[in-house]
Amino acid sequence: MKFELQNKKLEAIKADFELVFVQDKNIKAFKDAKTLFELTNYKGEGVCLDLANKRLFVELKGIEYEDIRLAFCSAYKTLEKLNVKSLKTPSILGKCVVMSFASLVQGFKFANYKFDKYKAEKKSTALEKIIVSSTELNNQKFDIEEAKLGLEIGEITANATNFAKDIVNETPQNYTSLTMAKDAENLAKTHKNITCKIYDEKFLEKEKMNAFLSVNRASVHPPRLIHLSYKPKTAKQRIIFVGKGLTYDTGGLSLKQAANMLTMKADKSGAAAAMAIIKAVSELNLNLEVHSILGAAENMVGGNAYKPDDVLISREGVSIEVKNTDAEGRLVLADCLSYAQDLKPDLLIDMATLTGACVVGLGEYTSAIIGNNEELQNAFYETSKRSGEYTCVLHFNPYLHELIDSNVADVSNSSSSRYGGALTAGLFLDKFIRKEYKDKWLHLDIAGPAYVEKNWGYTSFGAGGAGVRMCLAYLLKLSRSK
Ligand code: BES
Ligand code: ZN
Ligand code: ZN
Repeated sequence: MKFELQNKKLEAIKADFELVFVQDKNIKAFKDAKTLFELTNYKGEGVCLDLANKRLFVELKGIEYEDIRLAFCSAYKTLEKLNVKSLKTPSILGKCVVMSFASLVQGFKFANYKFDKYKAEKKSTALEKIIVSSTELNNQKFDIEEAKLGLEIGEITANATNFAKDIVNETPQNYTSLTMAKDAENLAKTHKNITCKIYDEKFLEKEKMNAFLSVNRASVHPPRLIHLSYKPKTAKQRIIFVGKGLTYDTGGLSLKQAANMLTMKADKSGAAAAMAIIKAVSELNLNLEVHSILGAAENMVGGNAYKPDDVLISREGVSIEVKNTDAEGRLVLADCLSYAQDLKPDLLIDMATLTGACVVGLGEYTSAIIGNNEELQNAFYETSKRSGEYTCVLHFNPYLHELIDSNVADVSNSSSSRYGGALTAGLFLDKFIRKEYKDKWLHLDIAGPAYVEKNWGYTSFGAGGAGVRMCLAYLLKLSRSK
């Protein structure tokens, strides 16, 4: 699918089909089309097909970016069943030109995403070209160059999101720490200003990353610490992403119930997001130094498995009592966050499918923004909203600390209370954040939207690419600010 902006009136553009946006469903044209639609027997939500005139009426509920994404998604979903090669559409302007055009592309590209590698029957689409006219739906004028930039940003951010989805959707038997390492190396080879370092278990031992190593001990696959760096000629700030990359989480000896284990291939979503972000950063040529540190491991059972009652000495020197081997993500992150701080970040963001509690508390579509710096959390929340991802800021309080106290070590990996699991997991990570970085750190718990077992909005069944768009939106903001 190619996107092209033509500085021409809609009528002057040639295409197989035309999109007509309807802002009020009760208007006559929509009703007329509805009749035709029913005759032609195509089903869709908020769309009416006028086959005779090769037009598709699409309901536009508003001009928020999310309305734009959803409208183009329903347009695509209807047209993919027809043999339409080229499509023309008017422009839709929300608050910001760049974001509006980026949302158009995202709507199409997310609607088009599928993971059908293992299916005999593959869906393909005839739609090759989408021509966007400079005719604006509500007759507004806008800067063509900004619109073009928007299309480009839309392509890059949507591709990165879909790239993360592919990694997460891939099966655990085919996607191990070594596969992740290969993907990272390939990314560095094909992308400007990106280098990649892969560290094996010997390095992890040398670095005293015992928390990380313990989690992987019962796996037949070796663990990997993957360090991707993007260094442009001039950079304003150094941003570090740390991603939880559990290629599978059985829970370890504190074994998960069968029903809860299913979907745990998605426990690598934080790492997938971190990899996708740096890919997009390079394609966008951002003037920021960005690092993605991925902790790739597998939490399995076996004679060599780490155990509840073990005490692990982490890279930071903090000792950890293992009370539950299913709270493994925080152990991998603890050592990766320690490694990341040696690089002196201006901003440190970790992403992880960390707790079931986060999904229970916020629902499956919302990620948690956790940290010590309220101002940073709020600023991140505001940008994430525009990006199309749902987030919620969660705050620590003084009464939570004692819940992760341990009688035998500096900290316990599992809370003594059944309440507030997303926050106590965040507090556990906070134990590994040095004083000077406390206010520069954010923890994103993406356990919900990382993987949803149904289609929702413009996101299809399975991986959702959680974390990618919100972080990119924040980076774009940073790169443009003084
Ligand atoms: N990977 C899971 C968290 C998870 C659960 C992600 C559901 C997505 C959907 C994590 O490693 C885990 O098992 N956490 C435990 C922690 C507990 C033992 C303290 C949890 O949330 O139950
Ligand atoms: Zn777990
Ligand atoms: Zn996990």
